[in-house]
Amino acid sequence: ATHNLLLLPGDGIGTEIMAEVKKIIGWFNARGGATFETDEGLVGGAAYDAHGKAISEEDMAKAMSADAVIFGAVGGPKWDGVAYDVRPEAGLLRLRKDLELFANLRPAICYPALAASSSLKQDVVEGLDILIVRELTGGVYFGEPKEITDLGNGQKRAVDTQVYDTFEIERIARVAFDLARTRKNKVCSMEKRNVMKSGLLWNEVVTGVHDREFKDVELSHMLADAGGMQLVRWPKQFDVIVTDNLFGDMLSDIAAMLTGSLGMLPSASLGAPDAKTGMRKAMYEPVHGSAPDIAGTGAANPIAMIASFAMALRYSFGLVAEADMVEKAISATLDKGLRTKDLMSEGMTAVGTTEMGDAILAE
Ligand code: NAI
Ligand code: MG
Repeated sequence: ATHNLLLLPGDGIGTEIMAEVKKIIGWFNARGGATFETDEGLVGGAAYDAHGKAISEEDMAKAMSADAVIFGAVGGPKWDGVAYDVRPEAGLLRLRKDLELFANLRPAICYPALAASSSLKQDVVEGLDILIVRELTGGVYFGEPKEITDLGNGQKRAVDTQVYDTFEIERIARVAFDLARTRKNKVCSMEKRNVMKSGLLWNEVVTGVHDREFKDVELSHMLADAGGMQLVRWPKQFDVIVTDNLFGDMLSDIAAMLTGSLGMLPSASLGAPDAKTGMRKAMYEPVHGSAPDIAGTGAANPIAMIASFAMALRYSFGLVAEADMVEKAISATLDKGLRTKDLMSEGMTAVGTTEMGDAILAE
């Protein structure tokens, strides 16, 4: 089958790391079997410079019809002064909103070669492979009322509101259980039902979805604060963690640091399955930004970007063997001692973006 990809490299190192993904796509196309048709668009500052907005309607339409969007990074000091609604980040937010990407997937994988340089003990992280599924479009970041009012006596009051409806919890729970079935078949749901009504409902709805549709998956529950502790103490007890927007923001950052550099972290954002094809709208991107401090120097680590493409293979196209192949190539390249500057430790020599990409391709 041929899959349809929209590549949006964006700004800064975004274009440099996307070039390495293109090489891998080219390799798959030359090999035959699963092949990819790619189109390319502008997003962020690059789109602003060309069209005066952070993504053009034409590119938005392409994103809506693509099987998956592969996104680099946006932003940079060049666009610091531009108006709020056309700033580079607005392109990313528009994509997330129009594609209705409510599920954010953040894996924390510890490649063996990097276990020794983790901030945690080697035996705690070695072989780690967990997936945090964060609800991305609801909860306290979006709930109304959301305001600061002047109380008139020199005091102000700030209000944020945590709101979750049943359907929002159901659909994120389904994503988590679906993914667990392709992994170790375990889901841990995290909330604070002891102090939050939304935690009570979260717990009830996740349990309901499990009991009705996913009885074969092992489900456990943990209070989110205890979950943070357990993530640092013994992360290998988890397979898939499902949690709300706020807790997911924090827990995924904690999990990220189990595995090392920002340059290593991929992510995926998924929407609802299409009624006809069952395929979800999806965007894959590294967690990091456009790294203006190293942009243009050829030093960027392409692994987060390449691993994001591997997630597309796995989660959008069900190309599990191909995804494994890419991830194993990354691992083997690290085993050989190749490191970009962000991963350097003693006794190693730094390679650049293209050398790292070429080495992964060779593997
Ligand atoms: P950043 O993630 O771009 O960089 C933080 C630090 O990590 C920098 O020192 C950078 O050199 C390093 N770094 C990041 N990715 C790397 C890689 N692949 N290889 C080697 N080193 C890497 O975050 P920062 O500096 O806060 O933001 C820079 C710009 O990126 C801003 O305009 C910000 O708004 C934007 N940004 C965009 C995001 C996105 O497109 N999703 C996410 C985060 C920030
Ligand atoms: Mg965060």
